Amino acid sequence: MARKKPGRKDELLKLLLYPLDWLEERSGLVGGVKYFLFRKVPGDISWGHTLGSASLTAFIVQAVTGVILAMYYSPHPDTAYESIRHITDDLWAGWLVRGMHRWGASVFIILMFLHMGRVFLYGAYKFPRELNWIIGALILVMGMMEGFFGYLLPWDQTAYWATIVGVNLQATGPFVGPFLGPVLQGGYDIGPDTLARFYSLHMLVLPGAIAGLIGLHLYLVVRLGVVSPPWSPEAAGNERPGPPPAPRSGLVAPSPRGSRRR
Ligand code: HEM
Repeated sequence: MARKKPGRKDELLKLLLYPLDWLEERSGLVGGVKYFLFRKVPGDISWGHTLGSASLTAFIVQAVTGVILAMYYSPHPDTAYESIRHITDDLWAGWLVRGMHRWGASVFIILMFLHMGRVFLYGAYKFPRELNWIIGALILVMGMMEGFFGYLLPWDQTAYWATIVGVNLQATGPFVGPFLGPVLQGGYDIGPDTLARFYSLHMLVLPGAIAGLIGLHLYLVVRLGVVSPPWSPEAAGNERPGPPPAPRSGLVAPSPRGSRRR
């Protein structure tokens, strides 16, 4: 029989999938992403389990809006305030991008706390997930540091005085406190060096570290799987036996050898 000629639809699909096939053949990345998205999870997980992905979405929103803001922001005391005013008042949708970044910072922290609460209530911090809990705690601390360093960047009165209070608080800490203040400020006063230092930490060092830790966090989530809620029989280790397998349909029903009546 003659083979059916591929239709226009098949040709188009093949053309559209070509870049993905190309990538898969050379890296196996497509298979990896498919494995991540379609991996098996317990049947009784709930909306609480979406909070980790919600935190990830908030982080991505912060990264994207932050990159856009960095295209127009100027980290010098003479120009910082004016560049922020320019973004908010003159640029198309600048107020929106800035607002998303500002409010998104709080959303990110709140979502991380909610996710952490879910993990705690479900006892998901216990063996073998302790390392993932520690990595999560590091991400949380770094997320809050992001907020602290970002707060100075508009270089207005609130930013300036809030940073003085924040730095002074940390300088009162035991042992490292007296060194921490000048190191954070880049000197004994808040000035151009402080702004440059905070900007570099806010948009390079901390986001890079957080992104790396999120990668590690997700690797461990995939490797260890997620836990069921504590009220599920599966989590208590006494899952109910399922219904017996249905007998095989057909002419002959299977039965142990010798048990069949003649
Ligand atoms: C940017 C921040 C974070 C992101 C993007 C993130 C992402 C995720 C995702 C996608 C999951 C799997 C689904 C789920 O349980 O929601 C997960 C699980 C987990 N996360 Fe996070 N997470 C973050 C912060 C944290 C924090 C702050 C902690 C705790 C201190 C934490 C501890 C854990 C643990 C122990 C699990 C395993 C949960 C289980 O097995 O049920 N994570 N995370």
